[in-house]
Amino acid sequence: MKRVTALGLLLVAAASCSSGSSDSTPTSVATIATTLAPTSTVPFTPGAPGVGDVYYPGLGNGGYDVQHYGLELTYDADGSVEADAAITAVATQNLSGFNLDFVGWEIDELTVDGSEVTFLRDGDELVITHRIPSGEHFKIELSYGGTPQPMQSAAIPIAIGWLAGPEGEQFVVAEPDAAHSWFPSNDHPTDKATFTFSITVPAGFMGAANGELTDVISSETTTTYHWSMDAPMAPYLATVVIGDGWELVEDPGSTETAGLQIRNMLPADLVGDAPVALAQTGEMINVLEEAFGPYPFDQYGIAVVDGFQHALENQTLSLFGRTMVEAPFFEYVHVHELAHQWFGNSVSVAQWSDIWLNEGFATFAELLWIEHLFGAEAYREEVANRTEVTRIAEYGPPATPPPNDLFNGSVYQRGALVLVALREEIGDDAFFATLRTYAERYADGNATTDNFIAVAEETSGHDLTDLFATWLYGQELPR
Ligand code: ARG
Ligand code: ZN
Repeated sequence: MKRVTALGLLLVAAASCSSGSSDSTPTSVATIATTLAPTSTVPFTPGAPGVGDVYYPGLGNGGYDVQHYGLELTYDADGSVEADAAITAVATQNLSGFNLDFVGWEIDELTVDGSEVTFLRDGDELVITHRIPSGEHFKIELSYGGTPQPMQSAAIPIAIGWLAGPEGEQFVVAEPDAAHSWFPSNDHPTDKATFTFSITVPAGFMGAANGELTDVISSETTTTYHWSMDAPMAPYLATVVIGDGWELVEDPGSTETAGLQIRNMLPADLVGDAPVALAQTGEMINVLEEAFGPYPFDQYGIAVVDGFQHALENQTLSLFGRTMVEAPFFEYVHVHELAHQWFGNSVSVAQWSDIWLNEGFATFAELLWIEHLFGAEAYREEVANRTEVTRIAEYGPPATPPPNDLFNGSVYQRGALVLVALREEIGDDAFFATLRTYAERYADGNATTDNFIAVAEETSGHDLTDLFATWLYGQELPR
């Protein structure tokens, strides 16, 4: 009601303004309303506080589309960070205000298009009041700082976000809901954007981020590393890794083999002594390109840190805990994170509940690597092993994981077996054509389980309703 009244007042004001001009023809409110451009008749309302993720309704925001994040971070050896974020976006409705997701930190200044604006902080929401017509580009600039604090994820029973290791290294683990604990963001994979990073660290430290290292500027006491991610990226895949004595190490062999730049960010002791499997990156890219189509980005590599027990597929620079890299099974985790660059990063979920589209596919890549190394019989044996594991664990349906345990074993193991079953059902030609068509059609975008099923049916000509119903949604593991 209030909105209607406000709109009415606006039109009356417009009408009186117009009748005061030299043309004295009486003009009714109704006439004005029909002669104004269509969008100006739409009331200005706040953008929604979420994008409609069924599992995590607070993530992301409505009413605008981010184009670019420019993040400038200055890290001090005392552990504190000073940051400037410049976010350019386009309004997708007439906005009276909008939200960003952002938690923690002290905000020193916030402007929109250069003007100071009214804002308030409400939990994980930063609520900004500012009028922006639909279709207009606008720029939000924030200065903030503090000592980075991890946050409790809604999806995993651990704290994630900006973490610190025992050697003082700093790194980001943001999947699925912690990007907004280190930069203000529209924190949902459905709003991808390009990124630039400027990371200033004490001299002797290395600061890495996603994409291409475009510039390094040194002063006596600091070094600033400029990074650029030119392909669209979901906020949760943005990363920063900082380490005293860490080095960016080119892998010329893999670069040559894969035809794209391979570089790793390693602690000093691993620089001359990296695990053998790390040099297989190029060969892995070739094997996965054969199965999935062209590698979707311009670089790849991993960053290794202590104080993290897992691995995470940050775009073009996956993060690995040292224990993972030194484990005998490293090469399988390595090919897994690499596979996420296609499935997870280029093709991202539209709903977090569809996480099997990331984890099942990346786990299936481990099977492809075994098949490449040891042949079809070894693939079948590994499928039998994992089927047994899945049966004993009594994994539930992979397409409906618990929201508070999103990365459970089912989305990985049973998720991979969905693809094994599909491959058996439709044969290798249609199966790999399905993977490549899906990767190409949804590249740099988002897809749903139904989108994948549609590609599989269209490519194979089979009716796959039963196969997917039982494998994805049935409680029992099908035979
Ligand atoms: N996507 C990651 C993987 O490659 C795991 C993510 C779950 N863990 C986390 N700390 N977010 O399997
Ligand atoms: Zn994974």
